[in-house]
Amino acid sequence: MTSVTSIEFREIDLDALAKAEGRVAIFVPEEGTLSRVARRINKLTRGAVLRVLESERFAKAKDADVVTISYPHGMISEAVDIVKLPKRPDVGTARKAGAELAKLGAGLDSNLILTTAGISKNAEQVIAGIAMRAYSFTDHKTAEEKAAGSVTVMTQDPQVLQEACQPVLAVANGVFTTRDLVSEPANVLTTTEFAGRVAALKNLGLEIEILNEDELAELGMRALLCVGQGSVSPSKVAIMHWKGGEPEDAPLALVGKGVVFDTGGISIKPAAGMEEMTMDMGGAAVVAGVMQTLAMRKAKANVVGLIGLVENMPSGNAYRPGDVLKSMKGDTIEVISTDAEGRLVLCDVMWYAQERFKPIGMIDLATLTGAIIIGLGHDFAGVFSNNDDFADTFLKAASAEGEGAWRMPLGKGYNAQIDSPIADMKNTGGRAAGSCTAAEFLHRFVKEETPWIHIDIAGVASVAKPTSLAPKGATGWGVMALDRMIRDMFEG
Ligand code: BES
Ligand code: MN
Ligand code: ZN
Repeated sequence: MTSVTSIEFREIDLDALAKAEGRVAIFVPEEGTLSRVARRINKLTRGAVLRVLESERFAKAKDADVVTISYPHGMISEAVDIVKLPKRPDVGTARKAGAELAKLGAGLDSNLILTTAGISKNAEQVIAGIAMRAYSFTDHKTAEEKAAGSVTVMTQDPQVLQEACQPVLAVANGVFTTRDLVSEPANVLTTTEFAGRVAALKNLGLEIEILNEDELAELGMRALLCVGQGSVSPSKVAIMHWKGGEPEDAPLALVGKGVVFDTGGISIKPAAGMEEMTMDMGGAAVVAGVMQTLAMRKAKANVVGLIGLVENMPSGNAYRPGDVLKSMKGDTIEVISTDAEGRLVLCDVMWYAQERFKPIGMIDLATLTGAIIIGLGHDFAGVFSNNDDFADTFLKAASAEGEGAWRMPLGKGYNAQIDSPIADMKNTGGRAAGSCTAAEFLHRFVKEETPWIHIDIAGVASVAKPTSLAPKGATGWGVMALDRMIRDMFEG
């Protein structure tokens, strides 16, 4: 497991700067006066800081860009990183500044002394940016050193900043959990291993239940069980309950698709690129990451997370195209493709979530369709909802956190595409609007009175290029947005 860089907080000590090892970061606005830290470093380096500030390079730099003085005169440190940043940066710019420092090695392979003099707002977001970007999944690299770089923050009032960092570091920890789960290969992250990692979250004060196949059969989750029946890994449903709100208040339910590997089953996928389907548990990973964050920051909210854990494999025992399944709700489903398995997992877990918890709202997350990648690419997740207010609350939170999310339509026409001649519905709706027909399939398992959002994260859970706050690979998309939404809804 990857842990968030440990961060030490102490008072500003001008006399320690000359002898500081590693890198030293200072923050300088475009205009205005230099902080006392910047002035001291300028003096030590015989005016190098001012020369940078007067340079064309600095003039052209954008907010959150870094200009580095390497091996500065008069100091022991290997570099002074001058970050161009307004004195009162907004959240996104502050995080970006931190991410830029992490790209230079802060928190990974170099030690950083970060001096907050020069920032009078959102300093904790700079630290969040470092923490979030200084991620690297090295569990399976035998030669690689584990991240060892430390971050020391020099600040006016260390205790105040340390406390302000608590919630943002809880988010970073949740994001790391999500990324680790998404990055982990399927031979390591089996359904049993995933459930075990969820069970370990008990230490944070979450109530955890793991339902095994017998219990799922008893509940009637036949659709979910069919998907997993071709695998030697047993299907499971894991429930994480955070009870931080008033006991009488109904919870928000988060439901995640946890297909630990998706071969397509008998409707098998082409070999090229199939290895990417280790990330088909991305929805479940976001749910686990959010639940961890809520527990770590002791959120004043009631939230229950439910994830369906299965592996979709071909075998003599696998379910087949043409099979007719009976869902827990009682509706029957004709299987057209065993590769449209995510919706079969979700429909039972979503029904169970509503029956048992009577949630005030339900959000499901799933790497559900390749079609959403065709439609929206890797910058936006697809958001479907039966409730405009609920959807807007989420979209606002996602936008505030810089996580791309785009509303997509539901509709009677899409719903009609999944009508079946021999059962209540079929599990695919043809080539047209594949993400919308998948959403309409799920919609059939949402009770009239439940405000619901479905988020298709197939394009954003893991990406080939670095994003602003993540190296390439698993992003942890959605942990920040959902945490923010929960704060806005329950903790305002
Ligand atoms: N897990 C896939 C969707 C997916 C594709 C996720 C690419 C991430 C990247 C899902 O189970 C699937 O196979 N969907 C099919 C549905 C089709 C058979 C109706 C698809 O998108 O092709
Ligand atoms: Mn599939
Ligand atoms: Zn899948």
